[in-house]
Amino acid sequence: MVHRVVFLGPPGAGKGTQAARIARELGVPHLSTGDILRAAVAAKTPLGLAAEGHMRSGGLVPDDLVLKILHERLDQPDAKVGYLLDGFPRNLAQAEALGNFSSVERVVSLEISPDLLVDRLSQRRVCPKCQSVYNLSTQPPKLPGKCDLDGADLVHRPDDRPEAIMTRLKVYAEQTAPLLDYYRKRHLLRAVDATGTPDEVATRVRKALA
Ligand code: AP5
Ligand code: MG
Repeated sequence: MVHRVVFLGPPGAGKGTQAARIARELGVPHLSTGDILRAAVAAKTPLGLAAEGHMRSGGLVPDDLVLKILHERLDQPDAKVGYLLDGFPRNLAQAEALGNFSSVERVVSLEISPDLLVDRLSQRRVCPKCQSVYNLSTQPPKLPGKCDLDGADLVHRPDDRPEAIMTRLKVYAEQTAPLLDYYRKRHLLRAVDATGTPDEVATRVRKALA
């Protein structure tokens, strides 16, 4: 079983949905740079203040900030057994930096047609407290507007508005998609069809990690 894993995929492909359950199964922490940055924005820390505008518009947060959070997070004791990275790396510089301090064992690329993404993202709601992900049409909460796990009010991410979604898709195509070739050349990449139900996708992901 692999323990140092990266999930790649465009916005809305289901990285967070799959990472939450697969990380539990692998016994490694689920590390989402997006979740860490959103927590910093909510807490109004200096990092959050520096990141907020980039995130709201759908652009990338500067590499030096993101690399600092990643180093700090991977230094924590729970990450000694491994990690499942969701949303990192996002460009070649980040991939090179990751390779300099850890050897990734497997990269799973969640593949989906762009047409399905806008719908998934505009229907998404998230719990600001525990980061659980819902979808108004496919995975609604039991009580409207409330997290099933902790009852917190669900929110619509500011970058799930149409303009920011378009920017995120463009940034993915230009800056992140080249990582597919980068990891393919290193024989680490496994492509997974990310359409179908979350259970169906999880079955494919498990096969890609076996
Ligand atoms: P981040 O939080 O990483 O966002 P993202 O990559 O755009 O991906 P999403 O979280 O939107 O989608 P997802 O693939 O996790 O899908 P989900 O499972 O939620 O980054 C946000 C921002 O932070 C960036 O734009 C950037 O500014 C900054 N940032 C983060 N990392 C950075 C880095 N390394 N460098 C620089 N900047 C960085 O699913 C989406 C919806 O679909 C949900 O509603 C879900 O319920 C539904 N769904 C999931 N699976 C299925 C399915 N199989 N069938 C039907 N519906 C499904
Ligand atoms: Mg996510």
